[in-house]
Amino acid sequence: MVLVPVPALFILRLFQVNETITFGCPVLECRKSNDALNARFQSIEAGPPPSAAAKRGARSKPTKGGAEPVQRSGTRAQRLLKASVEVTKWRSERAPAEHIGRAQARARCGKKGKPMPVDQSVYPAKELCSRCGFCNTSLIAQVQDACAFLGAGMARIDQLEHTVHGRPRQEEELYFGVQDGLRPIQVAPEARTGRRAWTGVVTSIACEMLRSKAVDAVLCVSSTVDKPLEPKPILARSVEEVLQTGGVKPMLSPNLLPLEELWQVRGEDIQRLLFIGVGCQVQALRSVEADLGLKELYVLGTNCVDNPRNAEALHRFLQSASETPETATGFEFMQDNRIHVKHSDGRYERIPVFSLKEPQNCTGVIAKSCYSCFDYVNALTDLTVGYMGVPWQGGRMTEHQQYCVVRNERGQKMLRLSQSVLELGQAEELQVDGRLSRQQLLPEVLRPELDLAFGQRKPRPEPPRWLAELLSEVFTWLGPQGLDFARASIDRATLRNLVCLEVDLLKKRAGQQMELDATLPKHAKKIRSQYQELFETLLETYRGKQVQ
Ligand SMILES: Cc1cc2nc3c(=O)[nH]c(=O)nc-3n(C[C@H](O)[C@H](O)[C@H](O)COP(=O)(O)OP(=O)(O)OC[C@H]3O[C@@H](n4cnc5c(N)ncnc54)[C@H](O)[C@@H]3O)c2cc1C
Ligand SMILES: *[C@@H]1O[C@H](CO)[C@@H](O)[C@H](O)[C@H]1NC(C)=O
Ligand SMILES: *[C@@H]1O[C@H](CO)[C@@H](O)[C@H](O)[C@H]1NC(C)=O
Ligand code: SF4
Ligand code: SF4
Repeated sequence: MVLVPVPALFILRLFQVNETITFGCPVLECRKSNDALNARFQSIEAGPPPSAAAKRGARSKPTKGGAEPVQRSGTRAQRLLKASVEVTKWRSERAPAEHIGRAQARARCGKKGKPMPVDQSVYPAKELCSRCGFCNTSLIAQVQDACAFLGAGMARIDQLEHTVHGRPRQEEELYFGVQDGLRPIQVAPEARTGRRAWTGVVTSIACEMLRSKAVDAVLCVSSTVDKPLEPKPILARSVEEVLQTGGVKPMLSPNLLPLEELWQVRGEDIQRLLFIGVGCQVQALRSVEADLGLKELYVLGTNCVDNPRNAEALHRFLQSASETPETATGFEFMQDNRIHVKHSDGRYERIPVFSLKEPQNCTGVIAKSCYSCFDYVNALTDLTVGYMGVPWQGGRMTEHQQYCVVRNERGQKMLRLSQSVLELGQAEELQVDGRLSRQQLLPEVLRPELDLAFGQRKPRPEPPRWLAELLSEVFTWLGPQGLDFARASIDRATLRNLVCLEVDLLKKRAGQQMELDATLPKHAKKIRSQYQELFETLLETYRGKQVQ
């Protein structure tokens, strides 16, 4: 079946194209009126079985509007011309009532709200809001059920995983979520894009999805030219636009904001969308997926943790991490226990995590949403991409292998459509035994992190650089690697956030007070049970303190 607009259909008919042809209105909600229209056309085109009257050559007037069939008469071309004129008339008569665009359908569905007023500065989730953009759209009416930081919040992941992937998370999926494959991945060296965080897997898949016409648009995070690190989410329609969006913009990003365009004229033709985003954004998106009026939604995400609150916070962090924070265009905590800072002049700095300048200045950098987040691996995507599960290979991050978790058939399809530019490895390559277990190292890592969260990090003379370098080397050699390094990172963030919530942030959640456990997805509770003793000691240490 081919979907064509009415005038084109007429031309096709005259040339006797041998296919079932259907009138097409590209907007999903128009399907009902399309069906009526097509039934009408077919009845006109086919006409009634030759009746006694027709055999006598009598002509009956075509009836207006109703569905009674028209008599067969004249040549096929004449009949088609007549039928088309008839249908066009019929259509325009009904247009006001039946040509329902996505916007009208939405206006009637009763779930529409007014985006937050311009003078409002408090978001529904208050301090814990991750500024995901949802409340700046008319979807706000559903915020109580969609927001990852309201009500049951991330505890809803358990149910949503079932809905999205068709089954719940199994025991062996505790850390990386529902999966239909976990593999090393990179963009083939000759196919790598200019702007990218790592080898550009995310950008490349997005481009292939557009090239293969699997989607009409990609919602991704661009930036302005003068501020390459500040996020500006867009609905990209072309490969050229997507190519401009490579690279991490390391701060909270209002990724759901462009969804509002779906109900405006310039977004109404989007029926298949690829959404790129991080866990808290994807959870809100999945909660309203059915109301978006999309034919297909693909979700491609990255791992995410410890996002800076805003540009000021990011700047404060970069001052601690870099000699020349002004020229930084990207950074990442790498598996070699160093922060790699990329600069606009092509330079790379590799700063051992033990030699941050005045780390106490970094209190208040990480957003409070990220201190109450339990979705590091972005459990509700179709495909998640990250780096932390890959053993350290040396070199630059833009040349370093990544890994991906395929969660369902849509995720498989994204990989299939992009296979010409991707190099995939085997899961076994990511299994490396470290010398010290992650359980042994965790307490040492958690204390400075919690001191930072609670504003208790004391100024201390930094160790000499050679010592900091040595420590990074030793930790990289001794510590967990590959998938176990990733698990250690997840343990660290989960445990730290459990302490932050229990001690302080839980009571700052908006609305009715909930028990901690009622706001936690199962995997967070399971991880806590592995470290119950440590968790309780930490609670004692920080009780009464406030997250800064
Ligand atoms: C805040 C943040 C923290 C992260 N922390 C980790 C981590 O701890 N461990 C780990 O394994 N991986 C982490 N990642 C993922 C990792 O850094 C890379 O994003 C991932 O490996 C993809 O690299 P790439 O070269 O394929 O991406 P690219 O091809 O360069 O594409 C990057 C994509 O990310 C999107 N994006 C950029 N900034 C944001 C933002 N602020 N919010 C939402 N989407 C954005 C853009 O739309 C773009 O499409 C993090 C990502 C983010 C955004
Ligand atoms: C969202 O709305 C609030 C209130 O109107 C406004 O202050 C904020 O800047 C908006 N955010 C975005 C990303 O548009
Ligand atoms: C840390 O903060 C102090 C006080 O605001 C400031 O003087 C100093 O320059 C900061 N240090 C760094 C490395 O940013
Ligand atoms: S996190 Fe998103 S959905 Fe929740 S209050 Fe903030 S903007 Fe609204
Ligand atoms: S760490 Fe969690 S809350 Fe923070 S931006 Fe990432 S997904 Fe959202």
